[in-house]
Amino acid sequence: MKVLVVGGGGREHAMAWKLAQSPKVQQVYVAPGNGGTAKDKNLVNVPITDLLALRQWAQANGIGLTLVGPEAPLAAGIVDDFRTHGLRIFGPTQAAAQLESSKAFSKAFMQRHGIPTAAFETFTDPAQAHAYVDHQGAPIVVKADGLAAGKGVVVAMTLAEAHEAIDFMLLDNTLGVAHNAGGARVVIEEFLQGEEASFMVLCDGKNVAALATSQDHKRLLDGDHGPNTGGMGAYSPAPVVTAEVHARAMREVILPTIRGMEKDGITYTGFLYAGLMIDPQGRIKTLEFNCRMGDPETQPILMRLKSDFLDVLLAATSEGLSQLEMEWDRRVALGVVMAAAGYPLNPRKSDAITGLPKDLHDAMVFHAGTTEKEGQILTSGGRVLCVTALADSVKQAQQKAYQTATPIAFDGMQMRQDIGYRAIKN
Ligand code: AMP
Ligand code: GLY
Repeated sequence: MKVLVVGGGGREHAMAWKLAQSPKVQQVYVAPGNGGTAKDKNLVNVPITDLLALRQWAQANGIGLTLVGPEAPLAAGIVDDFRTHGLRIFGPTQAAAQLESSKAFSKAFMQRHGIPTAAFETFTDPAQAHAYVDHQGAPIVVKADGLAAGKGVVVAMTLAEAHEAIDFMLLDNTLGVAHNAGGARVVIEEFLQGEEASFMVLCDGKNVAALATSQDHKRLLDGDHGPNTGGMGAYSPAPVVTAEVHARAMREVILPTIRGMEKDGITYTGFLYAGLMIDPQGRIKTLEFNCRMGDPETQPILMRLKSDFLDVLLAATSEGLSQLEMEWDRRVALGVVMAAAGYPLNPRKSDAITGLPKDLHDAMVFHAGTTEKEGQILTSGGRVLCVTALADSVKQAQQKAYQTATPIAFDGMQMRQDIGYRAIKN
C-alpha cells in the first residue's frame, strides 16, 4: 500500500518514519514534508500544500491511506473532501475538528455534556471582557477562539497581563489567529493548578483505543517559565497518569466526548487529544481538545509503539479498533525540541544546521522546521528538531536525548535543559 502523511513538522516526520517500518507499506509520501523527510531514503516528499491539488495527486497516485498530522487541513475539511472522493483517510471531519478549531465551541460542548473543565465566559466585546477580568481577578486565563498554533493562550498572573491579552486578541490580532465565523472572540477562564498530561486516543467512529500517555512542556524556558509555545519537549509514559487517572480520563472525558458528539449529530473519527490538568487528589479537568496527535508528544509515543502503525490505522479506518491490541515498548522515550532564534513570536529562518548525527541506536533526530538546500539543512520554522531517545528510565532517556543533541548546532538555537524533570525523582 502507498500511504500519504499530510504535514511537515516533527510529528509528521515521526509518523512517516514509523509507517515506513511496516512491511505492508510500499511507499510513504509526505506532503510537504521537511528537510529530514527529504533526506530519509525511505520517504518521498510531495511539494503540494493546496488541499484540492493534494487530493487529485492522491487519486492519480493510487494512495491507499492518508494520515493527517496538523489541525489546519482538518479544520479546512480535508477528511470530508477525501472521503467524498472515495479515498481512505484517518482524521476528523471539519465539523468534528471544531473541538479544536474553536475554543468557544469546545467549551460550550463540554458545558453541555457535563465534561469537567474550567469555569469560563466567552466575549467579543473588549469592554465586557475587561470588566469580567476586573471582577474575577488574577490569575486568570485568556484564550483566542481560533487556531493559533499553540500561541493563543495567555496565562495571566496579573490583571495587567490579562487586559493586555484581551486587547491583543480582540483588537490587534498580531498573533495571526484564524478567526471563526463572527470574528475575533476570546474565552476567559478560571486558572487551574495541577500537573498536565496529554491524553490521546484513536476513534474509529464507534470504538476508542488509548495511545500511550505522555507529558508535554509548553513553556519556552526551564522550570516552566516564559511564554507558551507549541511544546518544547515531551516524554512517554507520563507517571502522573496512574491507572486510576487513566480510567477516570476515559470515563469522565473521552467517552462522554465521543458520545456527546454523536448526540450532537457528529460522528468522531481520528485522533482525539485531551489536554488534562490533574490535581493532587487525581481529579481531572479538561484544558483543551485537539483533534490530532500532539507535537512533540507524537515523537516519543511513536518511538515506543511496537505494533505495525499501518495495522493500527487500517483498524482505525474500518471500525476495527475493538479488535486491536497495541503493543508498547516498556522503556521511556523522551524528546527535546531545538527551536529557532526568536521562537515563538518571531522565529528566524535560514540558519545552517551542523552536526546532525548519523546511525543512531534507540534515538532519532526528528526534523520539523528544516529544509534541504544544495545538500545543506537549514532552519525554516520555529521548532526545528526534536531529538528523541529511548532508555530504561526517564533519567536515562533524558541523558541520552541531550547527549544526542550535543553535537547539533545552529545560530540562536533555543533548547530547554530540563525536559522530563517532573518525572525524575531526585
Ligand atoms: P490550551 O491550548 O488551551 O491547552 O492552553 C495551552 C496551555 O496553557 C496549557 O497547556 C496550560 O499550560 C495553559 N492553560 C490553559 N488553560 C489553563 C487554565 N485554565 N489554567 C491554567 N493553565 C492553563
Ligand atoms: N504539544 C501540544 C500540542 O500538540 O498541542
